[in-house]
Amino acid sequence: MSDTSVTALPAGTTGGPAPGALSVLADLEAISREAARRFVAQAAAVNPFTVALAGGSTPRRLYEMLAQQPLSDQVPWSRVHVFWGDERCVPPDHADSNYRMAREALLDRVPIPPGNVHRIRGEIDPQQAAADYAAELASVLGPDGRLDLALLGMGDDGHTASLFPGSTALAERERNVVAVHVDKLQSWRVTLTLPTLNAARQVLFLVSGAGKAQALTRVQAGERLPAGLVRPTDGHLIWLVDQQAMRRPS
Ligand code: 6PG
Repeated sequence: MSDTSVTALPAGTTGGPAPGALSVLADLEAISREAARRFVAQAAAVNPFTVALAGGSTPRRLYEMLAQQPLSDQVPWSRVHVFWGDERCVPPDHADSNYRMAREALLDRVPIPPGNVHRIRGEIDPQQAAADYAAELASVLGPDGRLDLALLGMGDDGHTASLFPGSTALAERERNVVAVHVDKLQSWRVTLTLPTLNAARQVLFLVSGAGKAQALTRVQAGERLPAGLVRPTDGHLIWLVDQQAMRRPS
């Protein structure tokens, strides 16, 4: 099925339907392929290319595609700087580590300089990890503090990165990174804040599966769930969703 793109609405609108372009694709494979195409195109066009990877399981297939030829040969890895949108506060070799997933699916398979991989140190005190990561992010992004690309997923409750419904982190307007305790998971996380996400030049949401359908409906209707608060002030917002995630409850 070809994708269905909806006309973008002005970004930055408060309330009202979520802004951004919506592409409905057949399945996770198609979403991953389209995200890979966009990643490669943007990486080739800017120097350096700064990207925040999404965590969770949805982006794994995208990362695997980027690690395989021909796409892996089309990315100028020596000038790519990789960050994460969030991290679980666990060691880097822990099964829940977003860094570990990206390392196994992508980073160990491409010639990216180790100094260009900027992981969040989940193994140390969350507040210290957030402060260290904020400083590293700022030092690489420079004065404008803008990521070229932010890859994001969305939970079935409408969270994105580690910005969960009701979280105090949603109100953060000064810091670019914060440590948050996620009560529903009884765990600490480190996450980019909305100002950082909304400063990105491009934001790509990857949303797949029927489990996301209700949250996606609510976000697209303009409900102010965390994922719906990602409204780049001067950037492109693209939602890559599959048919399962677009299914409306009967
Ligand atoms: C995380 C992610 C989180 C994720 C959503 C969707 O650390 O878990 O940053 O925001 O994108 O929870 O996760 P799935 O892709 O596994 O459905």
